[in-house]
Amino acid sequence: MKKYNIFAGNFGSGKTEISVNTALFGAKKKSLEGKHFIVTAGATIEPIDPVRFISNHSSGKMGYAVAEALAARGAKVTLVSGRTSLECPQGVEKVDVLSAEQMYEACNAVFEQTDGAVMCAAVADYTPQTVADEKLKKGDGDMSIALKRTKDIAASLGEKKGSRVLVGFAMETQNERENAQSKLERKNFDFIVLNSLRTEGAGFRGDTNVVTLIDMKGAEELPLMSKRDVAERIVDKIES
Ligand code: PMT
Repeated sequence: MKKYNIFAGNFGSGKTEISVNTALFGAKKKSLEGKHFIVTAGATIEPIDPVRFISNHSSGKMGYAVAEALAARGAKVTLVSGRTSLECPQGVEKVDVLSAEQMYEACNAVFEQTDGAVMCAAVADYTPQTVADEKLKKGDGDMSIALKRTKDIAASLGEKKGSRVLVGFAMETQNERENAQSKLERKNFDFIVLNSLRTEGAGFRGDTNVVTLIDMKGAEELPLMSKRDVAERIVDKIES
């Protein structure tokens, strides 16, 4: 609810301040009302045995901020979330998943009914070939675990995206622009949000990020800002 101060009066009179509650005029239509987006967030968990797993450092903060920003503009949001300790933003529908396979199933189950997806999750590229039923016992020597590729969720949505908007993220540590550009094309994203672990204040866990928005026409570098503000800029670009 916004409050505006209006100064009323006539010449010679003192001014009178009227505080107008805009809710009284009825809610203004929000810019993304009637639209539906998937947002993926957080880290996937790939089990090795009942005790151990392979994962990464994603806290979910960036994805949850995008979900919140979309919902604030009136969109219906299906937040497909890996494990995080965050609370689901207001007005957002959350689907909890653990593995990359579960995230793939959850996204593909709803994608066709949506207007697009923002792929913010840090998804494991590899998962153990087999998951042991019992805790693996250690021996004296080293051990290796055979891994197989996971499905690429973003690429699978990219193949059937039609006129939907598909936004990707790229988390890089070297050759940032080239790698992001290649993901943009390979996964059929409309644009990709590049963040690099080499940039202070960017990437995993913190409340800030430093990103470059890259599409087929060029790149826009944004300064250090809160993840919530980055989310607003991403949603602005989706709208445009
Ligand atoms: O959660 P936070 O702590 O706030 O951190 C935010 C973040 C660093 C996780 C986020 O900003 C980010 O960069 N997310 C993407 C991380 C990543 O896995 O990037 P990638 O370059 O490996 O993947 C490229 C794109 O393909 C991503 O959109 C990813 O979601 C998607 N992908 C990757 C692998 C896979 N099997 N399926 C996918 O859909």
